[in-house]
Amino acid sequence: MSPTLLTARSRRIQPFHVMALLARARELESQGRDIVHMEIGEPDFATAEPVRAAGQKALADGHTGYLPAAGLPALREAISDYYARRYSADVAPQRILITPGASGALVIALAMLADPGRHVLLPDPGYPCNRNFVELVDAIPQAVRVGADTDYQLTAALAEAACDERTAAMLVGSPGNPTGTLASAADLQGLAALADQRGIGLIVDEIYHGLHYGDDPAQAVVHAPNAIVVNSFSKYFGMTGWRLGWMVVPAGWTEVAEKLMQNLFINASTPAQYAAMACFTPEAEAIFESRREAFRERRDFLLPALRELGFHIPGNPAGAFYLYADVSALCDDSEDLGRRLLEEAGVAVTPGLDFERTAPERHLRFAYTTDQTRLAEAVERIEQYLRSTGR
Ligand SMILES: Cc1ncc(COP(=O)(O)O)c(C=O)c1O
Repeated sequence: MSPTLLTARSRRIQPFHVMALLARARELESQGRDIVHMEIGEPDFATAEPVRAAGQKALADGHTGYLPAAGLPALREAISDYYARRYSADVAPQRILITPGASGALVIALAMLADPGRHVLLPDPGYPCNRNFVELVDAIPQAVRVGADTDYQLTAALAEAACDERTAAMLVGSPGNPTGTLASAADLQGLAALADQRGIGLIVDEIYHGLHYGDDPAQAVVHAPNAIVVNSFSKYFGMTGWRLGWMVVPAGWTEVAEKLMQNLFINASTPAQYAAMACFTPEAEAIFESRREAFRERRDFLLPALRELGFHIPGNPAGAFYLYADVSALCDDSEDLGRRLLEEAGVAVTPGLDFERTAPERHLRFAYTTDQTRLAEAVERIEQYLRSTGR
């Protein structure tokens, strides 16, 4: 078949620019260079032992067939119980569906909310796949500039100014990627009220939920009870490769979401769902909390160290494992700086091009998904590089 057969939709979707950088980093490593990886949005911890053991047991017990589309009932209950224990939030298990990662949940959420040609508001900067998920359902992504003044969160005022008669939904994330900032209770309440008032949908992606380094963050299930909430076992629970997430839908929406799950995915991975049951044991929770503490220590080291070097990191990056830096005091082309940091300093970071349309050339994302010793090494190398160029 000729590539001319490819749809405009599939051609419009951009690969991650960081992939080219990653390929180059691997090439340098194969030549014997030591590279500090700060470009990767994946925890550097393997899946916790109790979860791996539960996965092995699931296979040994023969849990390898299909499951109900909405997920293992016991896992839906365990998640409901988790919301109650951890956030005093009442979320009925019937509203929870188990999905193939947050990615699967986002596709279902947009398939439910955005008809072809309708607009979906997305904060800019934001998670790059979101605009592609919107394109996939033939809706139109609308980037809304968010800045340090709102801690990079979409507020009701910003959303309202961007809404028009074609707007179908808003999709926000807290803690956010690439900025690590959190939506406040007022932000979520404001968006929920706007959604009700204008009759549009609200999707809140809480995939970094659990990875926060201050007070407990505002929860969408509490402050935006009509929103679709997307979550995942990938980040806090350290199960990226198992491909497991969940979504909370408003009361009355389960049947439609379930119908989409059945048709698109049949069900999320069966052994992964059995393994995830072990995430809610005290043993596993203690491991996740100690990892969260490690991320907090890394953030507490890296944030002042980068600021000291001239990277402007405004706002309060109090969650996830990212710092999003304005590099305009150091250069006028962040992609070039990223390339030079890799080639000359042996440090891989992600340029703003992957995350935003407004000022990509001014930004770099640093992921602290590598240990403290390596982070210290990275800071030293960046400092030497900047000094060598007279900056
Ligand atoms: C903001 C955000 N949402 C969703 C995803 C998808 O995650 P997964 O499908 O592994 O749950 C990611 C992955 O990095 C992300 O950063």
